[in-house]
Amino acid sequence: MVQGFVTTNSGRMPISAPYGMTALEAIRLVGLSIYSPCGGNGTCGKCRAKIVGDVSDMEERESAFLSDDEQKAGVRLCCMCRLLGDFEIDIREGNMRVQTDFSGLSYTLSPMKNEKCEYADAPLGLAADIGTTTVALYLCDMQSGRVLATRGFRNPQSAYGADVISRIDKIMKDKTALSEQQRLIANAISGSVAEMCASIERKETDVVSAVFCGNTVMQHIAAGIDPSTIANAPFIAPTLFGERYDAHALGFLKNKDAFVYFAPCFASYVGGDIACGMIASALDACKERVLYIDVGTNGEIGLSTEKGLYFCSAAAGPAFEGAHIACGMAGVAGAVSEVFLEDGRVRYRTVDGAEAVGICGSGIIDAIAVMLETGILDETGCIAEKDDIPAFAEYVGEDEDENPVFMLDREKNIYICGRDVREIQLAKAAICAGVQTLLHEAGIDYDTLTGVVIAGGFGSHLRAESLCRIGMIPPIDTKKIRFVGNAAGAGAVAVLLGKEPRASAQTICDRAQYTELSQNAYFMERYIEEMMFGEGV
Ligand code: FES
Repeated sequence: MVQGFVTTNSGRMPISAPYGMTALEAIRLVGLSIYSPCGGNGTCGKCRAKIVGDVSDMEERESAFLSDDEQKAGVRLCCMCRLLGDFEIDIREGNMRVQTDFSGLSYTLSPMKNEKCEYADAPLGLAADIGTTTVALYLCDMQSGRVLATRGFRNPQSAYGADVISRIDKIMKDKTALSEQQRLIANAISGSVAEMCASIERKETDVVSAVFCGNTVMQHIAAGIDPSTIANAPFIAPTLFGERYDAHALGFLKNKDAFVYFAPCFASYVGGDIACGMIASALDACKERVLYIDVGTNGEIGLSTEKGLYFCSAAAGPAFEGAHIACGMAGVAGAVSEVFLEDGRVRYRTVDGAEAVGICGSGIIDAIAVMLETGILDETGCIAEKDDIPAFAEYVGEDEDENPVFMLDREKNIYICGRDVREIQLAKAAICAGVQTLLHEAGIDYDTLTGVVIAGGFGSHLRAESLCRIGMIPPIDTKKIRFVGNAAGAGAVAVLLGKEPRASAQTICDRAQYTELSQNAYFMERYIEEMMFGEGV
């Protein structure tokens, strides 16, 4: 065995690992995780951490992913770096912001009671949106209805893959991966609850009720239920939730009588996060024709009409969350979040105005729109050669195979390559074709839509024009497009605290009609057509 330390945002802890084990395996061994979207296969180059000490030399395959500066600073890829003696691993990450201001949602305050805990005189409640990539927590005062503290962090299960299918795959191959993934999310949530309680000087046992939402697979794993049947036709989910579970036994809360209510899911690929998001956006009332798109790893799409609710889920992949993108990263400090043209030059802004280190979802969509605008990219998704676009030639560079890439920042080596464009093309085509299929199912024309609601981690950075420009959504008047950020989290808070939202959570599934896209001929046809960039529909 070899000994060392791992430093996380919560501190430095000793670990021991068998000689020759990779740093990624060692990190997982002690219940920690690091972003590793390819699951440790050495193909994504994202499992970066500072590793010093007695470790294996860097091979060419690893160094190809790291810049000279990173190599000098001791950055390694955890899945390729083997531990041979004393070592130090630093996996600290930037904090993620959690949106708490969610206007336009009103309800009668009537918190979800825990009858077993009536003795608690100032009970606290917890709402959580467990996304495939990120998790948002809200600690609420159950009497006043106020949100007292929030936390956002990367879902530690990403150590098992970036998307739900890779995580199910790991469970199908090894049943212990289910309890491992459940333990990771339970530990991360209970750790954050402890921090939030300490920050407001309250006891952890004061948290007596919780409402969790997420996609159907995330909810299964969090509840410790094997989601394997969701991965293969006929894609049946073991449960669609909408009921209470023991929050103490599952390892989320310290109070032994605490419960967690998992929001109802519509289908195997349309989860409780959509139910909560639709509730938060007041679309459960079915008064207007509004599209709701949650641009996460699964592009979950809802359509509210006078006739009822229609849903589908388009496998968009994690590209919009920065995964599978060469310079992609989550929306933390230093991520390019906006790209735009100013006086004929390409400019960008980063989250928190920090020095640029990569590019997040909203930045990628903006960048593709700008590339189309300037002619750097054509409608088929080909990046132009320098000579073909003299006015913007300075933005065209080359990758190691001499293929053209879009250089957003030459000095910091932030670029978009042809493979990134392909990822975005597939993702946007899936969402746009999903939208069209729902409109077709509901028998309505896109120009009768009164609004489009975009939920997800993009927040206010994303520009409506860019979404239309790349053809991800119908070319609708951009004033009708609303960005609601983490609506699912806001909906979970509303279900925890409000009478009407909770009633809606019980009934919303009754009005819903689900369309399975993987077997839908209309979707397939549209999907192929929408692979082209340009204004959709
Ligand atoms: Fe290490 Fe992908 S390269 S997890």
